[in-house]
Amino acid sequence: MRYIGNKTRLLPFLMSTIERLELSPKTAHDAFSGTAAVGRALKMAGWRVASSDLMTYSYVFQRAYVVAQRSPSFAALRAGDPELRRALRSPAFRKSIVGKGALGAMSEYLARWIDAERGFIGAHFAPAGGRMYFTQENADRIDAIRRRLYEWWSAGLIQDDAYYVLLASLIEGADRVANTAGVYAAYIKRWQANAKRALTLKPEIPQRGARGSTAHRADAAAVAESSGEVELIYIDPPYNARQYSGYYHVPEVIARGWFDSTPVLRGKTGLVAGDGQQSDWCSARKAGGALTELLAATGARHALVSYNSEGLLSERDLRDVLASAAKNGTAKRFSRAYRRYRSDSDRAGRVYQGDLVRELLYHVRLR
Ligand SMILES: C[S@@+](CC[C@H](N)C(=O)[O-])C[C@H]1O[C@@H](n2cnc3c(N)ncnc32)[C@H](O)[C@@H]1O
Repeated sequence: MRYIGNKTRLLPFLMSTIERLELSPKTAHDAFSGTAAVGRALKMAGWRVASSDLMTYSYVFQRAYVVAQRSPSFAALRAGDPELRRALRSPAFRKSIVGKGALGAMSEYLARWIDAERGFIGAHFAPAGGRMYFTQENADRIDAIRRRLYEWWSAGLIQDDAYYVLLASLIEGADRVANTAGVYAAYIKRWQANAKRALTLKPEIPQRGARGSTAHRADAAAVAESSGEVELIYIDPPYNARQYSGYYHVPEVIARGWFDSTPVLRGKTGLVAGDGQQSDWCSARKAGGALTELLAATGARHALVSYNSEGLLSERDLRDVLASAAKNGTAKRFSRAYRRYRSDSDRAGRVYQGDLVRELLYHVRLR
């Protein structure tokens, strides 16, 4: 998914730094998991991963890409859902799923064969609600899929892995047809080409990795404390004042589902009132203290810290905090230049020094 701070492109740099430091796969805490790209790469390299993030959509990605181990078969669902059984008897449906595998077939069924219905997304984030995040058709389909997944899961017709893998694919699919410039802080007032396409689901087949990885929708320091001793903590916090809860509130609403209560929305963009997901790391005044607190809470032997050269914490302040937590009083810096992910809303409001940004990675030996 398009995500500020997504480390997918930096994974080779990160993983090769881990190798250079001769850290062998044991347990790791991916403390600011976001898209779960790093946790997933660590899992594939043999690490057992605890991951955490304040946002619910991140929890969904962590469950789908880090915790899930096997591709679901959907046997209970095929036996227990009469509507699906009917579809499976239809030659047209059977033809449409040839060669797609169980997950692919279920995605086809959800994206193309169930009826769209008006729900929370359709009522608030599409033209019926006076907003243009999704076309009405796509919004109503998102609602139908979201409710169906919830019903299957709460009736025990699908287990956690299948639920989160399909829900992750819904959040990512919705992002592909979102009428935004990359973040949800605003929608575009004319339909973009991507928004006019029909919603599709492309679930990722879960990969086997070390058993026992865990996902947490929680503050990084709280999870660091409860995780006890680990070999490595990867710290990739927000580095500017943009709260993820305001920039990604629509994926958050899809992830939460809100089946037991209805959130109150405010403002032109439909932010969720009182979401309680504001991060101290987005405040210049509090970020240094948050880092000190996290380094004190973790039981990690090694910390790797990603930070942006234009971040709220100056390089000097960052180094000072890291050095005072380090066993030997120093932090080692690795750096790599990369081309910035840039959304159109950035372009309108901010002036940058250029497109090339230096990503900094610090290594600290904590114990
Ligand atoms: C730079 S992004 C991480 C990107 C991630 N490494 C990836 O590759 O997608 C920062 C993340 O920190 C999360 N966050 C902010 N404050 C947090 C906190 N106190 N504890 C845990 N996560 C937090 C945000 O929701 C956001 O997903």
